[in-house]
Amino acid sequence: MTPDDIAARLGLPVEDVERVHRLAGDGPSAPLPAKADAPAILDRLAVPRDDAAEIMAAWPDPGSPLWTPELRQLLDRSTALVRADLGGYGWLPPGPELPRERGLAWRHLYVYGFLAMVGVVMDYHRDHGIPEAVSWATLADLGRNLAVDRRMNGEGWPVMQAWLTLHARGGVYELGRLQHQRDDTAIALHIPDSGPLTPEAVDASLDEARAFFPRHFPDERYSAFSCGSWLLDPQLRDYLPPGSNIVRFQQRFELEPYEEQEGLDGDVEVLRFAFRSLSTPLDRLPRRTLLQRAIVDHLKAGGHWYWRRGRFAI
Ligand SMILES: CC(C)(COP(=O)(O)OP(=O)(O)OC[C@H]1O[C@@H](n2cnc3c(N)ncnc32)[C@H](O)[C@@H]1OP(=O)(O)O)[C@@H](O)C(=O)NCCC(=O)NCCS
Repeated sequence: MTPDDIAARLGLPVEDVERVHRLAGDGPSAPLPAKADAPAILDRLAVPRDDAAEIMAAWPDPGSPLWTPELRQLLDRSTALVRADLGGYGWLPPGPELPRERGLAWRHLYVYGFLAMVGVVMDYHRDHGIPEAVSWATLADLGRNLAVDRRMNGEGWPVMQAWLTLHARGGVYELGRLQHQRDDTAIALHIPDSGPLTPEAVDASLDEARAFFPRHFPDERYSAFSCGSWLLDPQLRDYLPPGSNIVRFQQRFELEPYEEQEGLDGDVEVLRFAFRSLSTPLDRLPRRTLLQRAIVDHLKAGGHWYWRRGRFAI
């Protein structure tokens, strides 16, 4: 089947399907784990019960009627695309956005791709001497993202499906409170949704990274920690107390001059991370916390929020 056939039969943009085939080439895909092992693996990956049940129900068994040949081929080439970049750490969408309401195979296609990569990336971690506990903590971001996406009624998935290929390629590691992404000369910091961002937890995670990267990636040289986030918008200081965790996190960084980034709208990102909804009208958003009130009041007054980048020396 050519990419054109697949795109036509699935009703997806031809250029998106062509991209998958171009990047995957004839490279190897990766097999899914044995179905009998899957419940235990999903558990280790912190996949919530509802999602785990769906994933098991739509498992791409050879005879499953949920999986058309075109969908199977898309899964195969999408997995090959991710595998071809094993060890990479750039942003890599695994394939086209899928209309997930069309069924469980559509809904979880990139989750199956992630599961197929678990064995491959665990081998990559092992080759780098990375402790198994770090591997599982890192890969369990799958479950965290599925849980958040359910809260978001699926609105979060287009970004999450691309984010999760970093984990599947050995590009990001969860060390304590923060996730650390290998980047060209800096370690890029990411903040998972997992409780308060206390300075002590951040310090401990940074210390862990200072030891981790020279030990496991001795050929790579990092001179700084970097971060790109809504959390670094200095306007937040007009609303949050100086002792708040967000303001104290900001104080670590030297900000780069603001640059608009394609596909990143600060107003959308604050809604994503402070409300977990991109489509609720401002008047209907909750006002439970100081931050939530600040975000809505600022937007209602005609203000905007910005995605800012910053760094500090290791
Ligand atoms: C980063 C994060 C852990 C900071 O939370 P924190 O440690 O509680 O931060 P602060 O101490 O600065 O909080 C100050 C106020 O803002 C509120 N607040 C902070 N983050 C919030 C969030 N994401 N949603 C709603 N309210 C939030 C706090 O509850 C507090 O208000 P209160 O005094 O009325 O309770 C939190 O925002 C979070 O989990 N975000 C999701 C992940 C994320 O944004 N990652 C970065 C992606 S680029």
